[in-house]
Amino acid sequence: MSGPLLVLVGPMGVGKSTVGRLLAERLGVGYRDTDDDIVAGQGREISDIFVEDGEPAFRALEKDAVQSALTGHDGILALGGGAILDADTRALLAGHRVVYLSMDVEEAVRRTGLNVARPLLAVNPRKQWRELMEARRHLYEEVATAVVPTDGRTPEEVTEAVLDAL
Ligand code: S3P
Repeated sequence: MSGPLLVLVGPMGVGKSTVGRLLAERLGVGYRDTDDDIVAGQGREISDIFVEDGEPAFRALEKDAVQSALTGHDGILALGGGAILDADTRALLAGHRVVYLSMDVEEAVRRTGLNVARPLLAVNPRKQWRELMEARRHLYEEVATAVVPTDGRTPEEVTEAVLDAL
């Protein structure tokens, strides 16, 4: 197996799973998501892993999940929003086709501001989004072979834009 056809990266709430599923349908391939793999493997929700074990423990699980998905899946693969924080993970992505789904801070607040299930955004979403984007934008750009902005676009429009970028 030569690895996934396409890897989607980008911040939480940008639509990686929705767009990933649409792409998989359009291309007639499977869809996989490292967050789902971790939840299935642990039998716990991501938010529970953060609270019970802490973020570093989650990141270690995530790194393993990315590594196995990169070698064990040949369809569309979506990574958790923070997977690119790990330098080993970024190195593993080299040579893969990686699309960065981007959005600006206001779009992010609009889409996820009220979603308290996401442990990194529990308080003051706008400030936390600004910090997250500043810390991560260059990492997404570093691993990406293409960038597709999602601001003001429906998942179907983003899907078309990704297909155009391939
Ligand atoms: C995270 C993003 C989430 C999930 C966890 C941490 C992050 O994934 O892995 O809550 O650090 O940005 P999604 O991007 O799929 O929501």
